[in-house]
Amino acid sequence: MNTKVKYLGMELKSPIIAASSGMTSNIDNLVKLERAGAGAVILKSIFEEQIIHDIKRNTHVFAPVGNYGASYEYIAQHVADNSISKHFELIRQAKENLSIPVIGSINCFSHENWITYAKQFQDKGCDALEFNMAIMPFDASLSADDVERTFSDIIQSVRKTVTIPISIKVSTYFTDMAKFMQQLSWSGIQGITMFNKALQLDINTETEAICNADSLTAPTELYNTIRWTAILSNKLRCDLSASTGVTDGNDVVKLLLAGANTVQVASCLYRNGLGYMADLNKGLQDWMKQKGYEEVSQFRGKLALKANDKASMLMRTQFMNYFAEIK
Ligand SMILES: Cc1cc2nc3c(=O)[nH]c(=O)nc-3n(C[C@H](O)[C@H](O)[C@H](O)COP(=O)(O)O)c2cc1C
Repeated sequence: MNTKVKYLGMELKSPIIAASSGMTSNIDNLVKLERAGAGAVILKSIFEEQIIHDIKRNTHVFAPVGNYGASYEYIAQHVADNSISKHFELIRQAKENLSIPVIGSINCFSHENWITYAKQFQDKGCDALEFNMAIMPFDASLSADDVERTFSDIIQSVRKTVTIPISIKVSTYFTDMAKFMQQLSWSGIQGITMFNKALQLDINTETEAICNADSLTAPTELYNTIRWTAILSNKLRCDLSASTGVTDGNDVVKLLLAGANTVQVASCLYRNGLGYMADLNKGLQDWMKQKGYEEVSQFRGKLALKANDKASMLMRTQFMNYFAEIK
């Protein structure tokens, strides 16, 4: 039996990828993840603000510092501690020490001159690039068209800049999720990662202040990932990497059955340690053995909606089955 899959044109020995997070920000962790069976690693994101700051510091060219307003002091401090050159060194070390693909990650939200830096990730040796599109429709003056235009502007510029495979990591905040994901998949990118994690906010009733909620994903968040993976996997013209809510090998199996090409994990590694990557792989392999599958391709997408299926009707039937007890 083997768990090899193709993703972004690369061969991975396992469909389970270490998602971008603090866990993928140093070489010791990356080596441990490879030993535990990760199919690929996605490095901790570099933030657009870091790149802009670096451009300004190194070239004194115009950089849109004004965009960041009051948060600029915080950003400047963060950049001082996490310089891009440190990040490039991590890419170099990863390429020197790992045999699995190393995917760079950029967290971005605007179409600015930071894009010219994307090529440097390629030149430093990244096998592919994931763009974490932190573009949220929070601004009441922005229409869905404005938000979607920013996506296409970034993608077009990046495609002109780099030749390595590109994937786009998206949030769930779209009014026309299915249609827009399909359009994205036609824009010359090689993959879409669903979903990005929006920072969750909470309220402290004692101090009467806004605070951050738990940054780790709750297991129930998997259901949304399963739903959209099953709806979209046969409708996209690029690969689909499913992310959010995976807690064990069985969850990996579910997302593959729904049609994901790969599955990304972060929270379960935070909860159980880097070695848990081996448990996830074992869970997948045990299930394949029990079911008599030799290859992932024999069952991947078995439960995905067909390309011509009308998702809204199928979802409605599922809903009626449950709530109206129509059998
Ligand atoms: C502590 C933490 C840090 C993260 N940092 C990043 C990041 O730098 N870039 C990114 O694209 N995603 C980041 N993520 C999101 C993860 O890559 C992943 O998409 C998300 O957590 C959902 O997967 P999970 O349910 O397995 O945690 C982070 C997640 C966590 C929990």
